[in-house]
Amino acid sequence: MKVLVTGGLGYIGSHTCVELLQNNYEVVVIDNLSNSEVSVITRIETITHKKIIFYNGDLSNKSDIQQVFQQNEIDAVLHFAASKSVNESLKKPLKYYKNNISNMINLLEAMMEFNAKKFIFSSSAAVYGSTAQQPISELATTKAMNPYGETKVIGEDLLNDLYASDSEWSIVVLRYFNPIGAHESGLIGEHPNGTPNNLMPLITQVASKKRSLLYVFGNDYNTIDGTGVRDYIHVVDLAKGHVSAVQKLFSTHGLHTYNLGTGEGYSVLEIINTFEKVNNVNIHYEIVDRRAGDPAVCFANPAKAKEELDWSAERTLEDMCRDSWRWEKNLENRILTNKN
Ligand SMILES: NC(=O)c1ccc[n+]([C@@H]2O[C@H](COP(=O)([O-])OP(=O)(O)OC[C@H]3O[C@@H](n4cnc5c(N)ncnc54)[C@H](O)[C@@H]3O)[C@@H](O)[C@H]2O)c1
Repeated sequence: MKVLVTGGLGYIGSHTCVELLQNNYEVVVIDNLSNSEVSVITRIETITHKKIIFYNGDLSNKSDIQQVFQQNEIDAVLHFAASKSVNESLKKPLKYYKNNISNMINLLEAMMEFNAKKFIFSSSAAVYGSTAQQPISELATTKAMNPYGETKVIGEDLLNDLYASDSEWSIVVLRYFNPIGAHESGLIGEHPNGTPNNLMPLITQVASKKRSLLYVFGNDYNTIDGTGVRDYIHVVDLAKGHVSAVQKLFSTHGLHTYNLGTGEGYSVLEIINTFEKVNNVNIHYEIVDRRAGDPAVCFANPAKAKEELDWSAERTLEDMCRDSWRWEKNLENRILTNKN
């Protein structure tokens, strides 16, 4: 079975390539390296002792996509390539609509042209508005709070319409909660360009003294300690969820949507405390005002994925903190920073 992974050198894509290779899928990657490095290929191959086929291509360029399909018999596509910063999407909405919607349409058109109609879409808990009842089930109404989230809602709508028009499609939509952690080898992990948007890379950068202070936005929410609560999921568990989803694509038709989360919520202070404890480091933080648009609590009901994909997250918060720190230290020691 040969699968195409768009954005396969990025954070979640690279971990998914590892799991796919370890489950004997042949893996073809297209990535424009806008938020990743080509050295990730070697690291994936070092972990798995298997090769991937790599195309340095851009989904905005239809001929780049067509070339992949011309040269490979692709059985299914996992679509990770997108722009992912909520903050940046508020400043540059057109970039987000173009990369996350127009370029996805290019990909789907090429798939139709080559009659490859099995598709996995990286969606997000960002599709749920702030008023959703907790834990959030897939049936909750979608209502994005920012352009990034809106591109995921539109992506999902587009796939619903596509399936309604042609039932030969087999589509799985995966709504990720908050992926953190890194591969236990320490060879792949999240490598944000510029200032990170998410909590864990900020924590690891404070721990490694790349950044002097962590801002915690609000401590007056109605939560265990007043700080925001989220559903953090280890990126390796998330990657394994994709292998289950690919198996689903081949066993049924239809469009299926799943939350990928642990079902457990942790507060910002719980994450900081656990990180300090398991890694024996101090995180210097300061409480500041709430950020507009941040919900107090957001965690998944992952029962549907358990029931239909036979998948559930297994790694603990301690694992997530330990693996994140191992990765950051490797980056810090410049073991991984050679750009090929
Ligand atoms: N990381 C998260 O917290 C999170 C949460 C929910 C959903 N998601 C979604 O999961 C997917 C993967 O996220 P990630 O964290 O791995 O992001 P990432 O930025 O690490 O990886 C995306 C990869 O896609 C590539 N890419 C971007 N645009 C491209 C284009 N036009 N053509 C070819 N390659 C392109 C980038 O170079 C990068 O390697 C995205 O769709 C993202 O929106 C991420």
